[in-house]
Amino acid sequence: DEVYRAGITGRRPAVPTAFPALERRARWVMSRRAHAYVAGGAGSEETVRANRAAFERWRIVPRMLRGVGERDTSVELFGRRHEHPLLLAPIGATDLVHRRADLAVAEGAAHAGVSMIVSNQAGFPMEEIAPRATAGWWSQLYWSTSDDLVDSFLQRAEAAGAGAVVVTLDTTTLGWRPRDLDLGHLPFARGLGIAQYTSDPVFARLAQETADGPRRASPRPTPAAVRTLLEISRHHPGRFADNLRSPLPRAAVETFLRVYSRPTLSWDDIATLRSRTRLPVVLKGVLHPDDARRALDHGVDGVLVSNHGGRQVDGSVPTLDALPGVVEAVDGRAPVLLDSGVRSGADAARALALGATAVCLGRPWVYGLAIAGAAGVAQVVRDVLAELDLTLALAGARTPADVELEPFAPSFGSA
Ligand code: FNR
Repeated sequence: DEVYRAGITGRRPAVPTAFPALERRARWVMSRRAHAYVAGGAGSEETVRANRAAFERWRIVPRMLRGVGERDTSVELFGRRHEHPLLLAPIGATDLVHRRADLAVAEGAAHAGVSMIVSNQAGFPMEEIAPRATAGWWSQLYWSTSDDLVDSFLQRAEAAGAGAVVVTLDTTTLGWRPRDLDLGHLPFARGLGIAQYTSDPVFARLAQETADGPRRASPRPTPAAVRTLLEISRHHPGRFADNLRSPLPRAAVETFLRVYSRPTLSWDDIATLRSRTRLPVVLKGVLHPDDARRALDHGVDGVLVSNHGGRQVDGSVPTLDALPGVVEAVDGRAPVLLDSGVRSGADAARALALGATAVCLGRPWVYGLAIAGAAGVAQVVRDVLAELDLTLALAGARTPADVELEPFAPSFGSA
């Protein structure tokens, strides 16, 4: 109501309301490399497009005269009521697009009344983000090659008050991303998105070992590295001031690249999780019903159907197509979340009607952050929630489960 009223009384929003305009505007304010990193996908970006096309294959069939004056979209996740069926997907290296990065994201999420999943590759330590995420937060984990580091991250998440841990399975190694490759760009190699690591005592030990290791062939930073570091210190006054002198930050980046993800991750590792943390565990990146079943067999508490926004396997199945099979396999025993391609309230309505417990919003909030910081994040989220509520009202649904859908399958030769 508030969003709509503001719109019709001539108050212009801080960020564009529809996704295409939002993305266009964000592109303006972001550097070329930041935009490529955020917008880009794996390979030919077929899966980025397929994620969207999958939503367009489901049509809402509005039902009339059902007297739905009050709608309820709240959900319970791991014993906690969420006013809205939406969380912010974990997105790393947002220090690439905004100086206050995850701090602003947490404030925006809190303002909009939704939980945030804090990336393992955030621009700030989770301990600094947590107090700002007053509507709740979960901690995302990339399984490190160092088990000690995994345990440290889990303990920190517990101590800082995370509501769950989300283990991302689909990024045992980075996907093939031509846009980044062409620009020679990996934010982490520039010291962005590694604050969870550089603030970690176990990581500090590992980095110290790297720094103390055999002298490198070229102890002096290259001119390109100097330029990069100068650029970083412009955006982060003080934080990287000693980069050019101290060997530790270089060791930190090298150590990060060595430890951030375990290529051999298997079900055996997942089996150890139950004894390592008391937090509810969500597996992110599940696309096959059998993997969902197996997750539950391994004591996992929830699954997130995701293909990482089409950034990992080009040509992989769109998440909305994978959702019904996973929902059937899980059979109400655990929450099933979905991300990858959610751009609007109408998208959220369709995913929820197909059985998702909640959806995660990805790239749209990054664009809101780039344009207007915390206020931009809040507005992007509130726009999606407002449209979801309106969609339910107009579709004759009191809850998302009441939304009626039909598949859209054009036949050859039809107009
Ligand atoms: C991601 N994603 C991601 N996932 C994760 O588990 N940890 C991370 O650090 C990141 N980082 C990240 C950076 C960027 C720039 C993007 C776009 C995505 C994946 C993210 O959580 C989510 O799965 C996708 O963003 C969903 O796709 P859409 O809706 O953004 O297209």
